[in-house]
Amino acid sequence: MSVVGLGTWQLGADWGDIDDKDALAVLEAAAEAGVTFFDTADVYGDGRSEQTIAAFLRGRPDLRVLVATKMGRRVEQIPQNYVLDNFRAWNDRSRRNLGVDRIDLVQLHCPPTPVYSSDEVFDALDTLVDEGRVAAYGVSVETTAEALTAIARPNVASVQIILNPFRMKPLREVLPAAEKAGVGIIARVPLASGLLSGTYTKDTVFAANDHRTFNRHGESFDQGETFSGVDFETGVEAAAEFSALAPEGYTPAQLALRWIIQQPGVSTVIPGARSPEQVRANAAAAEPAPLSDATLTAIQDLYDRRIKDQVEGRW
Ligand SMILES: NC(=O)c1ccc[n+]([C@@H]2O[C@H](COP(=O)([O-])OP(=O)(O)OC[C@H]3O[C@@H](n4cnc5c(N)ncnc54)[C@H](OP(=O)(O)O)[C@@H]3O)[C@@H](O)[C@H]2O)c1
Repeated sequence: MSVVGLGTWQLGADWGDIDDKDALAVLEAAAEAGVTFFDTADVYGDGRSEQTIAAFLRGRPDLRVLVATKMGRRVEQIPQNYVLDNFRAWNDRSRRNLGVDRIDLVQLHCPPTPVYSSDEVFDALDTLVDEGRVAAYGVSVETTAEALTAIARPNVASVQIILNPFRMKPLREVLPAAEKAGVGIIARVPLASGLLSGTYTKDTVFAANDHRTFNRHGESFDQGETFSGVDFETGVEAAAEFSALAPEGYTPAQLALRWIIQQPGVSTVIPGARSPEQVRANAAAAEPAPLSDATLTAIQDLYDRRIKDQVEGRW
């Protein structure tokens, strides 16, 4: 799959409004730019993101795109809900939404932490593979500890984790462990919800139905998913410093994506986008030469000075 994929949370809900035409234009731009990996979830717009991907791919049978979805967050978040019967029902719904008999990759969608230690859960996921409902399974995690527990399981194909210049902890243990185990790493929230584009100011206002308004302090889901867990004011100031580090020819967003791509062990990075222009710019981040040691050192220094203390204790 392409090293720059596409996150499609934006094509469902929680990022302000998007109409179907614009959503399809985002997918079209991604395919034209060579993106062959779409990440979605059953809960994005309660199925709308999956259905939009299905509608797009129906019209483009020439494309070979790997589609990863997620399951588990349409019910109360208790370990007792993570059982085979539920997995089959959730999988039936996603297969209907996506219009496929077999899903390429299904990920547990940041389940409660004890789920990662349950043999029954992973036996049930193996059953989904045996039944031909999914080609492979992985997990999307909140913490590095959850990632390491999942990587130790024999049949986990992928771990999706937040990794970006404002979230570096996974570099130390998770990426080396994944590489050793042959587990794919899907780097999510690569732009820290857009902060790393350097385009926001302290006065930027997001729509009321955008999680960057309503989940800033973790009111609806894990705070780490919004601005990567960095307090907005700190994030805006640090993003201005980050932008100044962009070498000639890079936008700050492309610098962030390029930084992620060149970390050993990353399989794909999945920036979310709401416009074809963003998609094209993000896909182009796969092309430039690797960043110099001086730029890498400066990014590390920025993280150590301004961000590390805010995020490392929690995620
Ligand atoms: N728990 C989970 O498993 C989980 C949680 C979160 C995300 N994800 C997945 O990861 C994907 C990516 O994360 P994310 O979407 O939350 O955050 P992200 O990729 O860090 O940020 C996306 C936002 O950045 C801005 N942006 C994108 N491309 C840009 C460009 N080229 N130039 C300037 N700004 C740009 C856009 O916001 P504006 O246009 O508003 O500025 C866009 O909505 C999601 O779509 C989803 O598939 C999974």
